[in-house]
Amino acid sequence: MTEPLILGIETSCDETAVGIVRGRTLLANVISSSVAEHARFGGVVPEIASRAHLEAMPNVLEQALNDAKVSLKDIDAFAVTAGPGLIGALLVGVSSASALSVALDKPIYGVNHLSAHIAVDALNSDHPLKPTIALLVSGGHSSILQVNDISSDVKVMGSTMDDAAGEAFDKIARLLELGFPGGPAIDKEAKAGNKSAIDFPRGLTHSNDQEAHAYDFSFSGLKTAVSRYLQQAPNAVRADVAASFQESVVDVLVTKAIAACKASGIDSLVIAGGVAANSRLREMAQERTAKAGIELRIPAMGLCTDNGAMVAALGSIAVSSGKQASQIGFAANSAAGLDQVIW
Ligand code: KG4
Ligand code: ZN
Repeated sequence: MTEPLILGIETSCDETAVGIVRGRTLLANVISSSVAEHARFGGVVPEIASRAHLEAMPNVLEQALNDAKVSLKDIDAFAVTAGPGLIGALLVGVSSASALSVALDKPIYGVNHLSAHIAVDALNSDHPLKPTIALLVSGGHSSILQVNDISSDVKVMGSTMDDAAGEAFDKIARLLELGFPGGPAIDKEAKAGNKSAIDFPRGLTHSNDQEAHAYDFSFSGLKTAVSRYLQQAPNAVRADVAASFQESVVDVLVTKAIAACKASGIDSLVIAGGVAANSRLREMAQERTAKAGIELRIPAMGLCTDNGAMVAALGSIAVSSGKQASQIGFAANSAAGLDQVIW
């Protein structure tokens, strides 16, 4: 029997994306971003994002089907991000996927965006995800998770107390006038800088934070420190500031993720979400997990930031593990937590 063909739709933020997978094999991953339309506002404008999704959806869908060399009637099930995310943006994806499901009489799975970021690992590797620790770092979320079963059992070990890691990158990039989105801009600028130039604070890493906040993050103190530094040293070398800031964030992320592996006795770490595209994070995680004897899995670059393949991957896992399909008419949930994986 051939494995099921799953089409995944992602519209939770500013990417209109359709991915197609057969089982664990990626066939298409088409992304249209409205990021340029938001750049002059310094952040994503929900109404602009929703309209852009509406406009982009037909072409993105058609392109994905072409790339995968399949037609809509071949699809066995649809998957769509149903939350968390911007509500108007989510609705475009959920309505589109629901219409396809009804028209083609095929099941639909509303899925959690955060779980999908981790589930995309299935497309990267020839052996399935065992119980693992996941460091999930995106523009909206930063958490350390214990993933016993991606479709049903995910425990939150720690989360950010203030900004998400990606948000911190975006805010510091604005201070450094590097543009939006800030993550890729800082990553690039930092390559020309000295990461040891400035000793910025590492949030929630003091010994007295360990009891209550061992796996939590805080980036607001770092943000203030960078801002003060720039006020006092307006002619500072921007690349040094970018590199030193990035080093502080990455050091905290990797240190806490490895501590979580050790504390839970789990020797596997997945790093997922947009910030997983960061080159220094990938490098430091590689070095330190190798030393600690932990298996490290990070999605390919193009699968870290928002995409449809990750949604299709989670849909595929839902189908293969016998999960019940969602009821047509299910509601998007902009504030969905990790307890709501399949709608
Ligand atoms: O997962 P994602 O595409 O969207 C959300 O679900 O939030 O993550 C977007 C975030 C943005 O904050 C962006 O600045 C950050 O990921 N990001 C990066 C890099 N590429 C994207 N942060 C650091 N370094 C990067 N190379
Ligand atoms: Zn995301």
